[in-house]
Amino acid sequence: MKTIIGNWKMNVGARESVALARGVLLALRGRRHLPEVVVCPPFTALTETRKTVGRTHVALGAQDVHWEETGAFTGEISPRMLVETGVSHVLIGHSERRRLFGETDETVGKKTAAALAHGLVPVVCVGETAEERDAGQTEAVVLRQLAAAFSAMPARGAERVFVAYEPVWAIGTGAAATPADAAAVHAAIRAAFRASVKGGDRTKLSVLYGGSADPSNAYAFLRETEIDGLLVGGASVKLQQFTDMIAAAADVLEGIAAAPASV
Ligand code: PGA
Repeated sequence: MKTIIGNWKMNVGARESVALARGVLLALRGRRHLPEVVVCPPFTALTETRKTVGRTHVALGAQDVHWEETGAFTGEISPRMLVETGVSHVLIGHSERRRLFGETDETVGKKTAAALAHGLVPVVCVGETAEERDAGQTEAVVLRQLAAAFSAMPARGAERVFVAYEPVWAIGTGAAATPADAAAVHAAIRAAFRASVKGGDRTKLSVLYGGSADPSNAYAFLRETEIDGLLVGGASVKLQQFTDMIAAAADVLEGIAAAPASV
């Protein structure tokens, strides 16, 4: 299977989220093999977007979650609240949260465990900075983040998690990793998950790539067997670009050769 996740960040309100979701649903019509599609609007747009995508092929994701169920945590949203709103997936440890909002390996671990305990699919984001890459530390950094994220894995959670490999230097910069480099990191993530995460040895972990993925490179990423899908930021709020990427995933699933790049 291939999965395309749109991370709409703080870029769209409820009205725009609904319009995007409707456009995605229209674009999926008539395809034989559909990728799994997840859209992650801001919290305030979840309820309205749910009305559009509920009972369709498109799943609803949130961009963050707190690890406690209730309590005095002003401004936070709990896993139970997400479930109540019809959310099935949640991004955890996005590099913007790590870099700008004090997210740590430890809080990523707590959030991942809490999400799993509530039946949500955590999409755990990992990735190295440019300095770390230049120092040859990509694998060490990514595997450290991975180990922390899954340190409190409940007994039966491994089969439901996604990992998104998003090099920090590639996010929003237009400078994507090469499919081959991303595939190599994905293989290392998969091996470490299998070897060290509870239940990981019985799981075929889904590993997505993110960081300047767009219609011009989507097919090249998606045809790699190590790459189970894409986590898309900027291109996911441009309907034509996002649906072109979903179509590229459908092409890969249907064994259709690459269409000419449209960007
Ligand atoms: P980008 O963002 O596609 O705009 O690089 C990806 C992400 O932040 O998840």
